[in-house]
Amino acid sequence: MSFSIERYKEESRKLDTAGIDWHGVTASPLSKGDLFCLHYMMDIENHVPLYLSHLLVTRACMDPILTAFLACWNYEELWHGENIGKFLNLYGIEFDAQDRIANVRANLGLHNSVSILSTMLGSWLLKDFSAVYLTIGAINELSTLTGYGALIRKSGHPVLKDLLSRIIKDERRHYAFYFNSAKEWLTDNEKAQRVDRWMLDRVWVPVGQGVKTQEQVDALALYLFDDEQGEEELLGIDEKIGRLPGLSGIKLMSRALYAARERRRQDPEWAWRLIDNEEWAIAPPKKSPIGELTTRRTLGGEAVSAYEGI
Ligand SMILES: [Fe+2]
Ligand SMILES: [Fe+2]
Repeated sequence: MSFSIERYKEESRKLDTAGIDWHGVTASPLSKGDLFCLHYMMDIENHVPLYLSHLLVTRACMDPILTAFLACWNYEELWHGENIGKFLNLYGIEFDAQDRIANVRANLGLHNSVSILSTMLGSWLLKDFSAVYLTIGAINELSTLTGYGALIRKSGHPVLKDLLSRIIKDERRHYAFYFNSAKEWLTDNEKAQRVDRWMLDRVWVPVGQGVKTQEQVDALALYLFDDEQGEEELLGIDEKIGRLPGLSGIKLMSRALYAARERRRQDPEWAWRLIDNEEWAIAPPKKSPIGELTTRRTLGGEAVSAYEGI
């Protein structure tokens, strides 16, 4: 698996959706679990600019190759979220994408600012911060594309398969960048390897956790991966990450699945109730109304009609 930043800069572009059969979105049904996952995935794709805001204050961004990658990566991720939102709107789920994004962000509250400050401080105190960040990037991209693959399999929806397969191609390139960059940093660098392993074992959480609650993360994990094939796929992610120097035998994704299973064993309603009750709407924040945060006073109402012409 190779990666060239020059080639990536040349080839990076908005997701190509030409030829997707948008008219066929309503022709096949989706389960509540499929819809739960799509909302989760859309929210996390749309969260990328805030994730980026954490990275841009760290010492990792002294590296011009990294910032070139992030500039393109952020743009590509934008179109993943946009197109999943479009798919959901066309399926008949009514929401205004901009309102939803603003509400997700407003709900983060003070936690977001504290997190930016602690990431910034951590990165300047920790010389090998980049190793940790790059490894987490590799896990996030690989688990994202594995999640999309699992959703294609679970849903059996042909249009969703077409859309997600195109997104997966982008995620593979992102994974290649992070994995190769992490490998470069960790090779012959025992101290970085120790720091990386220590941090992953203690502070790593699955992609989306923090924006989503533990129960929401578990609902996604149990819906997509709580069968033989799903478990094998998560073990496969651990195995691939374990090929990085110093990370041999590490268990992250499979450990998260087993922990989710355990929480459900203790409470049989755990996680599935969110899917059964269709709990994917985002509640407006109690403090900081989004109009105040965004200065937009006229909100909503046009998302569905925007696609009427197709
Ligand atoms: Fe993405
Ligand atoms: Fe990605």
